[in-house]
Amino acid sequence: MTEPIACGLLCPQTAEPLDLNASGQSLDCPGCGRSYPIIDGIPRFVGQQHLASFSRQWNRYDVAHDAEDRATFEAKTGVALTELEGLRVLDAGCGGGRYSKVAAAAGARVIGADHSTAVEKARALCAGLPHVQFVQADLKLLPLEHESFDFVFSIGVMHHDAATRAVFDAVARMVKSGGRYAVWLYRRNQWWQERLNTALRRRTTNMPVERLERWCRRAALLGGVPVVNKTLNKLVNFSAHPSFENRVCDTFDWYAPQFQHHHTLEELTAWFSEAGFADLRILPPEKSGRLYRWAYAHNLLIGSGVNIMGVKRG
Ligand SMILES: C[S@@+](CC[C@H](N)C(=O)[O-])C[C@H]1O[C@@H](n2cnc3c(N)ncnc32)[C@H](O)[C@@H]1O
Repeated sequence: MTEPIACGLLCPQTAEPLDLNASGQSLDCPGCGRSYPIIDGIPRFVGQQHLASFSRQWNRYDVAHDAEDRATFEAKTGVALTELEGLRVLDAGCGGGRYSKVAAAAGARVIGADHSTAVEKARALCAGLPHVQFVQADLKLLPLEHESFDFVFSIGVMHHDAATRAVFDAVARMVKSGGRYAVWLYRRNQWWQERLNTALRRRTTNMPVERLERWCRRAALLGGVPVVNKTLNKLVNFSAHPSFENRVCDTFDWYAPQFQHHHTLEELTAWFSEAGFADLRILPPEKSGRLYRWAYAHNLLIGSGVNIMGVKRG
């Protein structure tokens, strides 16, 4: 059974429960009088701003692959699919919904939140799954009750906000005491990689989007060339995913967003501790192999992550 649309949603300004308008077209706050539209079945709490490239990206490319997404979910959250049955789960920054789909299919009651219209793709992807609902909202101002989730995960999201830490802290407040929180962020690379990347992104983030997409398609061709796709992309990031469409999408995902902050394990560990989480587990990368792990440990892999799961103290 699908969740009722207003189920559990609160006004992000007053934290009062929202009422479904008689027309069924909006959610209204009895406290402050604000009205939040429901468009295509999705409550909208924000307009689009600096995250607009994600609206384009996720609605344009089909990049979900069930088996791969299940494996990535388990690797990047540290939670097995068999543990999800009946849990209330938040996918913070759901994008096109591939990991919301994984969690909902495993029996969780999922809310996916994203600032962009990617929620439309997410809703379509999860059509037919019970207990999954999407909201278009800023993670720093979620229309949700604090401490109401058993498990919150966020994969590749928070570093795209002006202030990663502010998003981390706001989302951390959604976790129940005893609940789990898993976060994956871009890893800070060697200074020369960072410098080159910043210079490149200064150009790409100011390009007309059609030009950038043409550029990403060319990079995606390179990403299909053996050897090149395991060497050159340590200098300049482009995707080496087996699917061409994923490679275009991943490369656009890297070069289009306005903000892309890179973080260290020490930083993320401190954020978890200061937000009241214990039993921290540093999650290793999905890929193995001696050379890969060596390059990872030396912060040489562009686009790799820092990844921690923790449990909220009671
Ligand atoms: C790289 S995508 C990752 C999507 C998804 N987690 C996945 O891995 O498929 C990052 C997503 O985070 C969203 N995002 C970034 N900052 C956000 C914020 N402050 N509030 C809500 N969504 C945000 C973007 O709109 C985008 O869809």
